[in-house]
Amino acid sequence: MATPGNSTAGLDSSSGDGHNFDALIIGAGFSGLYQLLCLRDRLGLSVKVLEVAGGVGGTWYWNRYPGARCDSESHSYCYTFSEELVREWEWSERYPGPPEILRYLNHVADRFDLKRDIRFNTRVVSAHYDKTANLWRVVTDTGGALTAQFLITAVGCLSSANVPDIPGLETFEGQWYHTGRWPHQGVDFSGKRVGQIGTGSTGIQAAPVIAETAAHLAVFQRTANYSVPARNGPLTPEFQRYVKENAAEIRHVTQASVNGHPWLIAERSALETPTAERQALYEEAWQTGGLRFRAMFRDLLTDKKANDTAAEFIRNKIREVVKDPATAAKLADIDHPYAAKRPPIDTDYFETFNRNNVELVDIRSDPIEHITPHGIKLKSGATHRLDIIVFATGFDGMTGSLLRMDIRGRDGLPLSQAWSAGPRNYLGLQVAGFPNLFMVTGPGSPSVLCNMPVAIEQHVEWITDCIAYLREHGLKRVEPSEEAVDSWVTRVNDAASVTLLPQAKHAWYLGANDPGKPRVFMPYAGGMAHYRKICADIAANNYKGFKLSA
Ligand SMILES: Cc1cc2nc3c(=O)[nH]c(=O)nc-3n(C[C@H](O)[C@H](O)[C@H](O)COP(=O)(O)OP(=O)(O)OC[C@H]3O[C@@H](n4cnc5c(N)ncnc54)[C@H](O)[C@@H]3O)c2cc1C
Ligand SMILES: NC(=O)c1ccc[n+]([C@@H]2O[C@H](COP(=O)([O-])OP(=O)(O)OC[C@H]3O[C@@H](n4cnc5c(N)ncnc54)[C@H](OP(=O)(O)O)[C@@H]3O)[C@@H](O)[C@H]2O)c1
Repeated sequence: MATPGNSTAGLDSSSGDGHNFDALIIGAGFSGLYQLLCLRDRLGLSVKVLEVAGGVGGTWYWNRYPGARCDSESHSYCYTFSEELVREWEWSERYPGPPEILRYLNHVADRFDLKRDIRFNTRVVSAHYDKTANLWRVVTDTGGALTAQFLITAVGCLSSANVPDIPGLETFEGQWYHTGRWPHQGVDFSGKRVGQIGTGSTGIQAAPVIAETAAHLAVFQRTANYSVPARNGPLTPEFQRYVKENAAEIRHVTQASVNGHPWLIAERSALETPTAERQALYEEAWQTGGLRFRAMFRDLLTDKKANDTAAEFIRNKIREVVKDPATAAKLADIDHPYAAKRPPIDTDYFETFNRNNVELVDIRSDPIEHITPHGIKLKSGATHRLDIIVFATGFDGMTGSLLRMDIRGRDGLPLSQAWSAGPRNYLGLQVAGFPNLFMVTGPGSPSVLCNMPVAIEQHVEWITDCIAYLREHGLKRVEPSEEAVDSWVTRVNDAASVTLLPQAKHAWYLGANDPGKPRVFMPYAGGMAHYRKICADIAANNYKGFKLSA
């Protein structure tokens, strides 16, 4: 299905010959669109975006599964670089779904005339640095060969779908889908027996909606998960007016906060707050709904005992909501601290297990053995007959889309080799030995721990300023020193180690959902506001830690 307003291929409007550019950008989601605008319209560079999808939108182009919505509140899940854009766009819901977010991103692309410089349906297969010419040589799956001085990956942290290697999938006679590659025409579940594998943010959103039309839904749960009600709903005209009238203040708060959300984390401690007052505050946050729950106390992510108070509050809610005590016990048997994995928010997830057509299958105690032509067989021998399998099994997070391309730096060094023990870079932005390659929201930056448009705008603007600086100073190359990379990797590890985040041993933050991946905590956990200052100070200090050369 075509996305409204998308042409299938852009014209090479900003280049001389259609092959050689000042900059190439890979990806046309939130990151790639804004990077194109900055480099083309602010710096006047010739730029081309290469995008494998048939339209703009990235995450929202691919993830059209039932129940999909953002969990950032819409008034902050958007760009803030243009006051006019903020004023003219009106979100209809607190957490819109893919159609509305895609309308927004298409509006941005059309308003700033971006599509003419995007080649859709074009996958970047390889990108090799040519030291002599100081150029990146990029090859696409359509046979294109392009060059550019600067290469910017805007490939997304969550864009490589992870279909687990479960034996027998190829024998399955029904249909199967991964949520991150959902068919644009939708899937009809009516009258079908559906098996959903995965209970992360995606599975928690999908199950209630699938259950509404499926004859039967079996949810295969390996790790039980926390969730807080989203309490989605239409935005009132008063709130919409508030957003427009207070745009500058909202922007200020998102930039000053740890996670880029439009609220600050409370200064009070969960442990120092008397029990009755603490419970009342949790209850208030539960009724308000959404990720604000995580911001109720300052010590939830740094002190296990403080975290236990939130964890136990949510477990009690699960026991209250779910009528069958055995099912409630399995759902509440959560083995990691609250918010150590990205905390989901939901619409009637736990309530869904009170339906007659929904069953929870505990695959921690009885794992999947294989997929049969007609369903799923567990180790115990129990079988589940299925017409459709939904893989809500997540992504090869943060490094997946980068390493699926053959990126080679100086002297042919493959990125996969440079990162064989886990991602190593400076500020999450640049890798030693890969001159003029920038990564938007790369591993080692706050990225996925944030409301991402805030992190994306900061990275895109930093990269733009850095390229402008090079050009103003007659410089041709930038890459970090090995020492700067070493010290940043240490800083990323140190920042994670003072939080409870690494305690969720199966989190994709650690690469733990991919059996072959090194276990390294990938995002920078020191907070977005702090990170922003570090990046700004480095730039002001003539890009300290980077090697700049003519
Ligand atoms: C279901 C879901 C819900 C989410 N909700 C939120 C939320 O509420 N709040 C939040 O902050 N974040 C959320 N995220 C994270 C989300 O990914 C970011 O908010 C944001 O959309 C990322 O934008 P991006 O442009 O960096 O990456 P993406 O949107 O992932 O775009 C990357 C693009 O690069 C393209 N690409 C990748 N490799 C290649 C290649 N080799 N060649 C050509 N093109 C390539 C992809 O096709 C894709 O279009 C969510 C993620 C998912 C999966
Ligand atoms: N806005 C939103 O509300 C929203 C919605 C969706 C996604 N997102 C973003 O995308 C991220 C990824 O979310 P996600 O839910 O797609 O992925 P996820 O958090 O990685 O969850 C994947 C689920 O699949 C299970 N799983 C994976 N491989 C399996 C296997 N081989 N056998 C059985 N179970 C398996 C996992 O179990 P284990 O835990 O045991 O590994 C987990 O329950 C989120 O953390 C969030 O950042 C946001």
